[in-house]
Order: sequence, then C-alpha cells, then structure tokens
Amino acid sequence: AMLGATTVHAEDYPTKTITMVVPFAAGGPTDTVARLVAQSMGTKLKQQIIVENVGGAGGTIGAARVAKSAPDGYTIFLHHIGQSTAPALYRKLSYNALTDFEPVGLVTDVPMTLVARKDFPAKDFKELLAYVKANKAKVTYANAGLGSASHLCGMLFMTAIGTDLTTVPYKGTGPAMNDLLGGQVDFMCDQTTNTTSQIKSGKIKVYGVTTKTRLPSMPDVPTLNEAGLPGFEVAVWHGLYAPKGTPKPIIDALSGALLTALKDPTVKQRFADLGTEPVPEARAKPEVLRAFLKSEIDRWAPIIQKAGAYAD
Ligand code: MLT
Repeated sequence: AMLGATTVHAEDYPTKTITMVVPFAAGGPTDTVARLVAQSMGTKLKQQIIVENVGGAGGTIGAARVAKSAPDGYTIFLHHIGQSTAPALYRKLSYNALTDFEPVGLVTDVPMTLVARKDFPAKDFKELLAYVKANKAKVTYANAGLGSASHLCGMLFMTAIGTDLTTVPYKGTGPAMNDLLGGQVDFMCDQTTNTTSQIKSGKIKVYGVTTKTRLPSMPDVPTLNEAGLPGFEVAVWHGLYAPKGTPKPIIDALSGALLTALKDPTVKQRFADLGTEPVPEARAKPEVLRAFLKSEIDRWAPIIQKAGAYAD
C-alpha cells in the first residue's frame, strides 16, 4: 500500500523489531498475557516483539497511541474488554474503538477474583459484604481507571450491592497489587493472571471468582454467584489489533503467528497455571474479533449508561 513517501513492504514482513503496546503498567495481567504471546509470536515471525507499556485513563491512552501509529505492521496492540467499554465511558474519545483498528484475533478470556488485603476483617464473602456496607465511607477499592477490567467489575459489584465505594485508581493492577499486598488499599476485583500466585501464597485473601463455574486452578474458591451475588459474571477477553490500514498480507502474517502462539505448549501451560486458556483456533480469526468487538461495544453501552459511569 502506498503511504505518502513510504511503501509498506508486505512480502518480506517483518524485517525489524515489532512493538506490542500494552495500555496498562508493567507487571499487571494485561502485561503478563502480552509478554507470553509476544515471546511466542516473535519466535514464529523470526523478529523480536518488544512490549511497550503505555498506561493511563483505563487503557485509552495506549489505544489512542496505536490508533495514530503507522499501519506498517511494526506497532500492534494487545487490549482486553476495555476496548469495548471505552466508547460508552469516555465522551471525548480521540479514536473509534472499532474502525481505527484492524483486528488480528482474540487471545484469551481471563476470569476475575474478588480479593482483599491479607488482614481484611472478613472470612468469607457474606462477611465482606456486611463489612463493606457497614464501613462504606472508609473502605477503599483499587482499580486501573475508567475502562479497566477492575473498574468494570467494581462498577458491576457496586451496582449489585447498591453501595458506592471510594475507588483508588492506578495505572494498572500491577501497581494496585503492590498496595494491596502492603495493606494500603482494602480490596479489588482483578484477573487471575495477576492474583493466582498471591492467593496461593496467602499474601492476599480471595472471596470468589467471577465465572459461572469454579476454576480448576482454584477449585475451593466459590463463584460469586454461589457466594451471594447471583448471576454475577465477568470474563476479561483479550484481543490483538493493528492500526487501521495495515495491509492484509501483514495482518495474515500476524494472525498466523498468533494462532501458532495460542497452540504453543509453553503459552498453554502458563495460561493454565494462571487460571486461563487460549481461545480455540476458530475463535482466533480476525473477522471473529471484529464482530465480537462490535457486539461487546453494543452490549456494554446500556449497562454503563445505566450505572452512570462516564468521563468527560
Ligand atoms: C492491567 O493489566 O493492569 C489490568 O488489565 C488493569 C485492569 O484492566 O483492571
């Protein structure tokens, strides 16, 4: 494709390092998924894929950066469900979440866990609910900003219990986890890719998982549905994108490398250890992500509007 003065060479792509933008701070769940996938895709493409963390505003800073990047295949983007909630949450978004990106494919659906600092005074979800309602003015809930999965789960949680809480925003739930471990913040809803090891080492407490059925990686942790929030369900899907206008041969090369990564035994094992698994190949095709993203944007808009969550 002719792009002003430069021509994008698709046939010998990639000929240099690729940047994978992650719209949250390093050390968090999105970063974890990205680095695993980038490592495996890089091997397949025979080029290094480096992860660049561009945090802020619940992932929309990173998304805006990618939307304005050259569509030459050297900037790609790994983001989660937040790509579909941002349009309803941000009234002045500088990009179109659907049309300013070329979908490469879905990656994985990650469950969430409701977790608290180690000495939070509640032994189960029922006690947590009672404590939170009795102390709603002082209990603090961590999230990664409007548009993050931790924000979305928190919004649904507060709506479900009919109580607004003080939220403490971070550039990712990696940094939020540091404060939870240190006891500086009380609780949060975060992805198993970030909470599994801390839960298993007893450094934080877990009160439930946000999936329909219990997780093989944590079989003795109840679902929130059974613990006291009937129908409460949030799964954090992740998609890989390139900027709009990226030539099809390059999208095909990226899609091929993603499919290989999703079958990589190392990726599958690590995902399993962290409570998740790669999406099946049939779900990892570019057009499936395009249709799914559109359906998710349409699905979350009324829920978000009803909850009254937005940023000007
Ligand atoms: C992260 O990677 O920090 C998380 O995705 C933040 C969030 O979405 O809650």
